[in-house]
Amino acid sequence: MAASKQTLAKIEALREQIRHHNYRYHVLDDPEIPDVEYDRLMRALQALENKHPELITAESPTQRVGDEPVSAFGTVKHRLPMLSLDNAFSEAELGDFHRRVSERLEREDSAELLAYAAEPKLDGAAVSLLYEAGRLVRGATRGDGTTGEDITHNVRTIEAVPLKVRGTGYPQLLEVRGEVFMPKAGFETYNRKARADGEKVFVNPRNAAAGSLRQLDPKLTAQRPLDIYVYSVGVADGGKLPDRHSLVLDQLQEWGFKTCPERAVVAGIDGCINYYAEIGAKRDSLPYEIDGVVYKVDSLADQRELGFVSRAPRWAIAHKFPAQEELTTVSGVEFQVGRTGAVTPVARLEPVFVGGVTVSNATLHNIDELHRKDVRVGDTVIVRRAGDVIPEVVSVVKNRRPKKTRRVLLPRKCPICKSAVAREKSEAVARCTGGLFCAAQRAEALKHFVSRRAMDIDGLGAKLIEQLVAIDRIKTPADLYSLDSDELASMERMGEKSADNLIAAIERSKSTTLPRFLYALGIREVGEATAASLASHYGKLDAIVAATEERLQGVEDVGPIVAARIRTFFDEPHNREVINGLVAAGVSWSESEPKAAPTDGALNGKTFVLTGTLSTMTRDEAKDRIHALGGKVTGSVSGKTDFVVAGDKPGSKLAKAQKLDVRVLNEQEFGGLIGS
Ligand code: IVH
Repeated sequence: MAASKQTLAKIEALREQIRHHNYRYHVLDDPEIPDVEYDRLMRALQALENKHPELITAESPTQRVGDEPVSAFGTVKHRLPMLSLDNAFSEAELGDFHRRVSERLEREDSAELLAYAAEPKLDGAAVSLLYEAGRLVRGATRGDGTTGEDITHNVRTIEAVPLKVRGTGYPQLLEVRGEVFMPKAGFETYNRKARADGEKVFVNPRNAAAGSLRQLDPKLTAQRPLDIYVYSVGVADGGKLPDRHSLVLDQLQEWGFKTCPERAVVAGIDGCINYYAEIGAKRDSLPYEIDGVVYKVDSLADQRELGFVSRAPRWAIAHKFPAQEELTTVSGVEFQVGRTGAVTPVARLEPVFVGGVTVSNATLHNIDELHRKDVRVGDTVIVRRAGDVIPEVVSVVKNRRPKKTRRVLLPRKCPICKSAVAREKSEAVARCTGGLFCAAQRAEALKHFVSRRAMDIDGLGAKLIEQLVAIDRIKTPADLYSLDSDELASMERMGEKSADNLIAAIERSKSTTLPRFLYALGIREVGEATAASLASHYGKLDAIVAATEERLQGVEDVGPIVAARIRTFFDEPHNREVINGLVAAGVSWSESEPKAAPTDGALNGKTFVLTGTLSTMTRDEAKDRIHALGGKVTGSVSGKTDFVVAGDKPGSKLAKAQKLDVRVLNEQEFGGLIGS
């Protein structure tokens, strides 16, 4: 069906609206409408274009991603070369630049007034965007500065790149240059996903930007979170541009191009140095990577007068920040134990100056990261230190690996206390199981031990614990019970009175309960509720220490993970020594006979799921009966369920049981089983 004039007008109006909102969103960072409304406009346009495909033009906002991948990159010869920048690595080098500029311009007397356009030096990939009559006709990489690659199909997918210039007065032929980059957040998200999917990760945002632009299939580029800031005009024919660099950028922004919001005009060398410090202080909080700042003589007439040397302009310089990545070699890989017992691999490095400091250690995060990066002693590695973040090993330079290196393995024993190191399959972190015994974990373990809901030793604060641990007066909690009030009184911020009070509190804590004691031990995953269940189930500490993982799972609230943690804790001889030490020091509680006879109950080891209403007892009563006979009740049906008890109006659990072929008991059958 031929489109009417009205349809055409409607389509154009929608395109203009979408362009306007693109501009508000991407260039001004000040959207007027919510995303859903924007999506609605886009869908309305798509619907009309689907009906009238003959009206689709290359500049339509719907046409960012082409249908077909290109088979190879064409080459593009830049009409004006894309230059590079000289670098200044110090204020002295910047001073030399400023002097050269003022001398050439014969402005030595007013050098402090010389205006520079200052901008962050973005860490991405340079591109050239060519517009004919306001329409984007070509995108190209910088290449060697003379010849680049045709990446039109890819730059079109970047939403911040206008397909059509806004407004009026732009040159008939306009080449805009800028830096395509991947914002830090997008880079992190992209890498996290790539890692989870087992795909290749990017080493830094710059490689991510450059790599994304060099995709043959624009659909892939479109999925990468790319952005752009434009920083200059190349060719401009037929039209007038302002006479200062900063005003050219203002004009480009009016025309719909995104410029860096941090750009500024500064005066003389002092202005440059202040700007450098300001941006340097912001560097880590900026949403994109930068590696320095660029100063450009603002007057274009002055720029022309200054001209070029070889491949770089005399009117601009990049003032670099200290590198955040450097190469060095690994002299060792050691394992550190944190306050929670986490065992973390650390690379010992040949000292290297990076990110403004000398670095001789870098974290490897955890054992999985160590193995993923496969860092070995003798390797050459890239170390990164950004801002205040702890230095990390980014990657190994594999082709510099010496012969006969060995993979680094997780140690079996804690390097601090020699207790076993354990790691659950689902967890990245390996931990020392020494708990109360391990010096690395001692202070934290003690704080928990004395806390109100554990042994409840009032007056033994964190500071005092840290002091006592630091002087090695307390090695295990049992040592608390040998403190005397004289030595306590001599500690920082302690008087005789508070020392006496503390000794009394320590004394009082000796008489405790089994649940409190169990909780105080600080077994991972054993909170107050689990401690109470264990105590009521077994009645005696010895029975808990002796219980197998399987039996432990028969306890209310104890699943396979918790059971494994409890077993690991008591299997560590150091932990049993600590318990013996506490008992020897006089810590005691009353023990009882086990509530149930779980070891020889009729339902021992059997798992039940209850569904529907029972007429002769409540659900809690049914649970108690099952527990009393050594059985276990869980909330959902699985292959491990032995019986599903179905009362009146059973739920979906019944269907699940039938599906999994789990035996279903009606109320009567259940009654027979529990002997009621
Ligand atoms: S101006 C003649 N401004 O740095 C001046 N370049 O070493 C040419 N870059 O290839 C570029 N941020 O990729 C300019 N604000 C900025 C920049 C910038 C990053 C990159 C650009 C260029 C390289 C020059």
